[in-house]
Amino acid sequence: MASNVARFSVSLEKDLLDALDAFVARHEYPTRSEAIKRLIHGALIADDWQDDDKIVAGAVIIVYDHHTHDLVHRLMHIQHDHSDAIISSQHVHLDHDHCLEMITVKGEARKIHRLTGAIRSVKGIKHCSLVTTSAGEMLP
Ligand code: NI
Repeated sequence: MASNVARFSVSLEKDLLDALDAFVARHEYPTRSEAIKRLIHGALIADDWQDDDKIVAGAVIIVYDHHTHDLVHRLMHIQHDHSDAIISSQHVHLDHDHCLEMITVKGEARKIHRLTGAIRSVKGIKHCSLVTTSAGEMLP
């Protein structure tokens, strides 16, 4: 065991422990500890995203019909206005009409939420999904 790892005991209802073990098996975690660590990470990341000042990272994934009047121009404008929070963007031509764009973001949670809202409100966006993760520093 690594020297910076601490052990502690947890008391759980038997049914909850059974549910945890089923979760560990279903998701193929190597150990209960690893599964619990990931669950804690998920909770900490969700909490960070609730705090406007926290530096977070993620991806905004959108699908749209590029024929929609002014949509591509508006999307470009929004991304230039938020360039300090955008690391990269990838554009994929799904079919003759539809484009998928994945915009990788990092910055204060408030800025990422603002950017996502601006994109979501563009007329013609068919789907807009924000994938939330950590900027990395707090995850051992
Ligand atoms: Ni395209």
